[in-house]
Amino acid sequence: MSRTTILDHPLINHKISLLRSEQTGTRDFRLIVEEIGMLMAYEVFRDLPTENVSIKTPVGEANVPMLCGRKPAVVPILRAGLGMVNGLLAVMPSAKVGHIGLARDEVTHKPREYYVNLPQHIDERTVILPDPMLATGGSAVHAVDFIKKQGCKKIKFMCIIAAPEGLRTLENAHPDIDIYVGTLDEGLNENAYIVPGLGDAGDRIFGTK
Ligand code: PRP
Ligand code: URA
Repeated sequence: MSRTTILDHPLINHKISLLRSEQTGTRDFRLIVEEIGMLMAYEVFRDLPTENVSIKTPVGEANVPMLCGRKPAVVPILRAGLGMVNGLLAVMPSAKVGHIGLARDEVTHKPREYYVNLPQHIDERTVILPDPMLATGGSAVHAVDFIKKQGCKKIKFMCIIAAPEGLRTLENAHPDIDIYVGTLDEGLNENAYIVPGLGDAGDRIFGTK
């Protein structure tokens, strides 16, 4: 059974179209990436565990669902994944935050790990890995490999735009994780950039080019 959800939602698609435009500058780009993170969070957090607790309302008693268990960990893939974190935290403020730093080599397109810092008890948490772009899938596969080595069992990868090649690679390498995709694009160009895509997400979020 496929564990991939393509959100394909009008609000998200509209915002992705704004991101794609080369007219969109750093300030708006950053804001929209965060907004998409928040909209996607609704789906990503859909299966958080709850337990019923007794409370009193102004008109009576009720047994109502409240979130329970260890807080999830949001672990963005640096740099670009950072842009989605505040959107996720807007709806789940008590989530823990870790970081995995990966840089894709410009020639080989393979990821190089340069930084890792994870919250305590990571193996007992749902881990959410945000990264705006799933291109060849190399970075996502590496990040999930690493998180699995820490003993994590419930892992969710989320991206704004995926190339079909990268999505297939991630699904084949890790059929046991949940994948959330804003929209699926046509494919990759000769430099392994997503077409039509939005360019280099990290550079556009941070204004580095
Ligand atoms: C980008 C993007 C992903 C990766 C996707 O990051 O944010 O992490 O490329 O490509 P892949 O699916 O082919 O691995 P990049 O390595 O450019 O680093 P940055 O976020 O620091 O810009
Ligand atoms: N990384 C990006 O930021 N954009 C792409 O299109 C591919 C990899």
